[in-house]
Amino acid sequence: MSDSARAADQFAAALSASLDEHPEATAERVGTAATAERQATDAGDRIRVEGDDRTLLIDVAPAGEFPLSEDWGDLAGVAGAADATALATCSGRDCFLRSLDGESANENDAADFHYLDLRDRTPPEAASGLRDAVAHLAETDRFPAQSERERVAGLLRALQGAVRPRLESLAREAAAGDGEFATRFEAGTDGADAISAAAGQYAYLLAAGALYETIRGEAAADGEGGPSRTDGVDALLADPLDSLAGGLFDQATAEAITNEAPGVFETFPHDSAVERAVADLLGALERRPLSAVEGDLLGELYEDLLAPAERRADGQYYTPPEIADTVVRWAIPEGLTTTSDGVPTVLDPASGSGTFAVAAYRRLAALCPDSHHGDLLDHVAAVDVNPVPLVTTALNLAVQRAGTETPAVRARRASFLDLGPGTAFPDLSPDGDPSEADSSAAAPAFDAVVGNPPFVRQEALEKDHYRRHLGAFADGAYADGPDAVSGKSDAYVYFLTQATRFLREGGRLGFVVPTKWLMTDYGRSVQAFLADHYCVHAVVGFDHRAFDDALVDAALVLLERCSDPGRRDETVTRFVRLDESTEVDAVLDAVRSGESTAGQADGSVADGGALRDGNESDDGGTAPRPAPDEAVVRTRATHRTVALRQSAVTAVESGKLAPFLSAPALAIRFLQHPDLIRLGDLAEVAYGNKTGANRFFFLDETDLAEWPIDDRFLAPAIRSVRGRESRVLTAEATDQYLLDVRPYVDPVPDAETAADGSLDARVKAALARDGYDALLAYVEWGEREGYHERQTCADRQVWFDLGSLVRPEIVHPKFFDRRVVPLWNRDRLAPSNAVDGLSLRDGVDELVVLGLLHSTVHEVLLECWGRAEGGGVLQLMTYEVETLPAVDPARIGGDSREALIDATRRLLDGDESAQTDLDALVLDVLGLDADPADLRAVREALVRRRRRNGDGDAPPAERVDDRGTRSFAVDPAAGR
Ligand SMILES: C[S@@+](CC[C@H](N)C(=O)[O-])C[C@H]1O[C@@H](n2cnc3c(N)ncnc32)[C@H](O)[C@@H]1O
Repeated sequence: MSDSARAADQFAAALSASLDEHPEATAERVGTAATAERQATDAGDRIRVEGDDRTLLIDVAPAGEFPLSEDWGDLAGVAGAADATALATCSGRDCFLRSLDGESANENDAADFHYLDLRDRTPPEAASGLRDAVAHLAETDRFPAQSERERVAGLLRALQGAVRPRLESLAREAAAGDGEFATRFEAGTDGADAISAAAGQYAYLLAAGALYETIRGEAAADGEGGPSRTDGVDALLADPLDSLAGGLFDQATAEAITNEAPGVFETFPHDSAVERAVADLLGALERRPLSAVEGDLLGELYEDLLAPAERRADGQYYTPPEIADTVVRWAIPEGLTTTSDGVPTVLDPASGSGTFAVAAYRRLAALCPDSHHGDLLDHVAAVDVNPVPLVTTALNLAVQRAGTETPAVRARRASFLDLGPGTAFPDLSPDGDPSEADSSAAAPAFDAVVGNPPFVRQEALEKDHYRRHLGAFADGAYADGPDAVSGKSDAYVYFLTQATRFLREGGRLGFVVPTKWLMTDYGRSVQAFLADHYCVHAVVGFDHRAFDDALVDAALVLLERCSDPGRRDETVTRFVRLDESTEVDAVLDAVRSGESTAGQADGSVADGGALRDGNESDDGGTAPRPAPDEAVVRTRATHRTVALRQSAVTAVESGKLAPFLSAPALAIRFLQHPDLIRLGDLAEVAYGNKTGANRFFFLDETDLAEWPIDDRFLAPAIRSVRGRESRVLTAEATDQYLLDVRPYVDPVPDAETAADGSLDARVKAALARDGYDALLAYVEWGEREGYHERQTCADRQVWFDLGSLVRPEIVHPKFFDRRVVPLWNRDRLAPSNAVDGLSLRDGVDELVVLGLLHSTVHEVLLECWGRAEGGGVLQLMTYEVETLPAVDPARIGGDSREALIDATRRLLDGDESAQTDLDALVLDVLGLDADPADLRAVREALVRRRRRNGDGDAPPAERVDDRGTRSFAVDPAAGR
């Protein structure tokens, strides 16, 4: 059975099932191919659906065929011959319900078909969608409502769906041969999925090319004088990239877009079926009123094209247009005095399909209404390493003024990290050596840099390439040495640092970046770089209900290049969390609120002139400007803002800035409290005992029944804290032991005789001599199993000697789920390295620390400090436990101390009612008037938010906060 017959069978079965409530209706595969050619090849299929008084004929196109081909010609004739009242043509993924007379079934638009995207639908869902559309057509004589954009998107998708598999199989054949394609392909790409990705891109370019060919034709026919183009389908197939760029733009632009492209598309194999599909698409597009298509259609299609793995590798996550608008409106404020000719210059260094570049163009057009298309284009520069999205950027820019000729677009194919600022805009010159001082001497040209740089993780980066430009700053201080930008930085960090070289003094930068730099250990170095070069005006984060879920781990950074350290310190940094999707104006208001106060000392006036966007009111009036030692928290219906002076932000030594975005106001009060110190100041924080072979070193009662090892070699131990209910670890409650031979090994005398004379062998000889046969046998079993060869074991002098065991007073889990409970290690069990241990420093009272760590304040702090990992589990790395803020026990004196110890004892003894007393005491010590019940509510809300994927119904933590504006003192040195 052919593929199309199988698809038709499935579809017919699904249709039959979906017609259940219409017993008079039937669906069956009738298997009559539509054309003579199909009959000859036994390809394609037909399904006939009989309703009570109508019959639908569905033509299932064979693989590779564009499902809306012209072959059907006289549809009414086809329908008549088949005795059908409605016709649909479909492939496995796209379905077109046709109008029989070829005319519009709707009066208000020119629809001669209704498109159904079958991609994310099961066959039954697809069948019932089609059935509903047919019923609608029969009952109203109209297709269901659909935009022209959806119809055109359907046509373009259908082409890609039809030709991609064919192109992929042709390309595999060609790549296996020894022709030009094979060589070029090898040179330009790597990896097993590369052919599939290239076929997808080629198919995408064919669709984009056909669309633009038609738009240009439409413009010419309307007498709008669009550029003429003689090469048609052949040229498109021969090299779609070149044909698109070369056909639309001047030579310099075309070369800049295709710059050193590997030439894969130039030699991409195709055949007559692909050619026919493209011609069919062109035919179908010609009948569409393309001027009615709105929005970035090609960008959306390009995004569809990227397989998830491909997206991850290139860091390609695309930005909702409202977000790009927000960034661009902030970065290009009204009234900006520019360095050049009155039109601001803007750069997008990783333009993708052009969301930001187009938003920038539109912003310039709005601000400079007298400027011509060409002028505006001259002021927007786009860079991307991949020519396929870049050509889409160029096309998207070109069509911003339909019918106006576009000779040049400033689109340049390059790795942004290879470029130097250049001497004059828009010259983005390739850098000889970006780390050389003279390349940084060139005057930076741009008034604004905007974009969504790739998110690629550091492990996948070629570090030299990404870090080279750091040499251009401060004699290389950020490349190497104590102030260096961390080598663990992911790709987007280097886009931030490199962009700095392109911005003039007072120029603005607006990027969408991951939030990792606000919380991980590399973030501190990034924050320091930004603080040294920018006024950091705002960081905008997103709750899961705001915009796209993909933005939850992303934030907008809104920066202004500034060389005056005093002004940078004075700048007010606003951490804005959007809780709901909000109008662009509202986001801008939140970011800017307060700009009109205090003589613009928050940096809203750039060197070159006043920045004013005229829209500064917000729902609660202008926010008070925080004093140097103050944080101002404002909660509004759609967002929450925490405002601090940049000097106070820079002083947060831990680099944990994420809580300013996500933590409830009460938790921010804790974090900024002057009486908090680092947990590492109270205890040495280290992970538990690392064995290198837990299966060997940890023994339970079953193991000991088999190997009756003497008690002197067994230390009561704790292997995992998962599922533990009690707050106290005791020897009675554990059945785990860690092999502990250190006290025995220590005194084994050097002179002990053994064949090879090694300490290892001497210890074994001693064990034999002393009659510890069970342990000896166990060690020998371990050797037969190969444990002694594992790296960690082999590195020891005596492979089965763990050395002095770590037995910390407190065990602190690395992962937390519902409850967050550090455990009192009363009997000093030896923990595995799956947990962290706190060994208290001299003079630190165990019960006081336990009390503090069992208070809900600590749990709230943990929720703010750690990261939610898969399944909503909270994770803390050892260094994070070390920097966790903790109440300083030295601040707790006399009666409070006694009361705290008493409450702690009761809690550890299992009296849960002591929790409220403990919480009240800790809040009292901190001088906060919060109610312990509110504190617990905040904790609960934080836990629910973290685990939201699990239960889905949690309100955001903020809802339990006070609403409105409040400010409180901060100690810039606190919260470390
Ligand atoms: C997140 S996408 C950009 C999306 C785009 N800003 C938007 O919102 O529509 C990231 C882009 O960076 C590009 N890219 C990756 N590495 C690059 C590099 N070294 N230089 C320039 N562009 C790069 C990718 O090809 C991809 O198109």
